[in-house]
Amino acid sequence: MKFFKSINNAAAVAAVITAAPPKELNINQPSSIQSVAKTIAAGAMSYYPGTTKSFADLPKPYYWWECGALMGAMLDYSHYTGDKSYDETIATALLAQVGPEFNYMLPAHFGDEGNDDLGFWGFAVMSAAERNFPQPDPSIPPWLDLGANIWNSLASRWNTTACSGGLLWQIFASNPNGLDYKNTVSNGGFFQLSARLARATGNDTYLEWANKVWDWTQGVGMIDDSYHVFDGASSSDNCTKINPVSFSYSASIFMYGAAVLANYTNDTKWVDRTTGLLEGSKWFFSPFENATNIMFEHACEQVDKCNTDMRSFKGYFSRFVYASTLYVPSILPTVNELLHTSAAAAAQSCTGGANGTTCGHKWYVGGFDGSVGLGEEMCALETIQGLLVAESTPPLKGDEIKVVRAFSGAASSSAPTSTSSTTSTAAATAAPSSTQSSSAVKRSRRRSR
Ligand SMILES: *[C@@H]1O[C@H](CO)[C@@H](O)[C@H](O)[C@H]1NC(C)=O
Ligand SMILES: *[C@@H]1O[C@H](CO)[C@@H](O)[C@H](O)[C@H]1NC(C)=O
Ligand SMILES: *[C@@H]1O[C@H](CO)[C@@H](O)[C@H](O)[C@H]1NC(C)=O
Ligand SMILES: *[C@@H]1O[C@H](CO)[C@@H](O)[C@H](O)[C@H]1NC(C)=O
Ligand SMILES: *[C@@H]1O[C@H](CO)[C@@H](O)[C@H](O)[C@H]1NC(C)=O
Ligand SMILES: *[C@@H]1O[C@H](CO)[C@@H](O)[C@H](O)[C@H]1NC(C)=O
Ligand SMILES: *[C@@H]1O[C@H](CO)[C@@H](O)[C@H](O)[C@H]1NC(C)=O
Repeated sequence: MKFFKSINNAAAVAAVITAAPPKELNINQPSSIQSVAKTIAAGAMSYYPGTTKSFADLPKPYYWWECGALMGAMLDYSHYTGDKSYDETIATALLAQVGPEFNYMLPAHFGDEGNDDLGFWGFAVMSAAERNFPQPDPSIPPWLDLGANIWNSLASRWNTTACSGGLLWQIFASNPNGLDYKNTVSNGGFFQLSARLARATGNDTYLEWANKVWDWTQGVGMIDDSYHVFDGASSSDNCTKINPVSFSYSASIFMYGAAVLANYTNDTKWVDRTTGLLEGSKWFFSPFENATNIMFEHACEQVDKCNTDMRSFKGYFSRFVYASTLYVPSILPTVNELLHTSAAAAAQSCTGGANGTTCGHKWYVGGFDGSVGLGEEMCALETIQGLLVAESTPPLKGDEIKVVRAFSGAASSSAPTSTSSTTSTAAATAAPSSTQSSSAVKRSRRRSR
């Protein structure tokens, strides 16, 4: 598809986008994609009770991690469409959750905070860093340092007691569901953050860790020879029995890390791995003969077993696969074939609710399936807004990364740069010392095993 080269420049000033019903989506027309994304972004943000001035947790049944996931989706919305209307709300949310050690270890959420959850806040923080997204609060470190702090926290928990390494799913013994389970989403998040920090900073410690996490995950068999990414394995039997369940987001989290490293190292092994992971992900498409190239969460969708978390996974798949195309352009034909069809199908699912714009869950039914939620909105949003990736500015790195304090919203039409450059020396982090709040809600197991 061809886009007008001017879309991002026009957007940078302050895009005035008119919302349009998703069912009218024309995937070949940037203004149509922007307009539809605007409608769905409003649908997604209607779940978030915070404001430009104050953070608020998502209401039940949404866990804390999904708020980080939402902010990551909205950062992409701002970047791809140029609609800056949510920027202050996004920054306020991300900065409110840094915690006492600026590493997103948040005592109030110790009851539902796992290593995988840190990945989702980390992805958002890294996207903010890589785009010079405004960070208006000088009392809090720059985005890049926050990303490094999250990484340090994860690295401190690399655990060789069993399985020769790996991160466990959970962090705290009082959250009983995952201290004997090593999973790909936790390790994939750590891998992707390692890759992005390596490229952003040029510090090869991150590259060494990225290699180490990849080698471990593949070595233990959680990524197989066909590049299928499985959910995890129990440390109590030394990771000898791989849980064969496979979710789309885990594959894409590794894929984007591999694509970043293809770009950073220029080593063809990472191109091969990116390509392999895309091939291995084809089992998330074409559930029926009448639904060729339409994405579905194959572990749960057809059998109506996708829980609240799982109903958001296809969105992250789209996010990271689109982003990978900027680094490994050779995957574009396959990505377009898969995601363009899925984007069109997702748009057709967004005909529910009083407004006729609420998105559904199963895109292969040819319309709205009656399933409503934040996950449904985010999946459609990320699969549709990512159609604009080719004309977006690629992630910044090294000296290009600056601290920007001022927002360039519609209100302030002048140049967005009140920048003060900074050298990012990540603030040292220690393991959290605060004791866990006993009132914190215990999280129930997310994955079926
Ligand atoms: C749906 O319409 C109502 C009333 O017109 C409005 O308040 C609400 O924000 C709309 N929701 C979305 C997601 O657009
Ligand atoms: C390391 O993993 C083992 C299980 O293999 C677990 O019992 C132990 O608590 C973990 N250590 C840390 C520091 O998490
Ligand atoms: C556990 O598995 C690793 C390989 O992942 C192996 O090197 C190690 O010897 C195993 N440990 C035990 C106790 O079987
Ligand atoms: C690279 O990153 C590691 C891990 O955070 C850190 O210990 C080390 O000091 C960094 N090296 C440089 C040269 O900044
Ligand atoms: C890395 O990615 C950037 C952004 O897409 C691109 O301009 C650059 O040529 C790439 N470099 C390599 C070595 O792939
Ligand atoms: C990347 O590697 C290719 C060969 O594999 C080479 O042609 C190209 O110049 C390299 N690019 C950079 C930026 O090193
Ligand atoms: C495709 O077939 C499946 C399985 O029979 C069905 O559930 C679905 O509604 C069909 N989709 C369309 C668009 O007819």
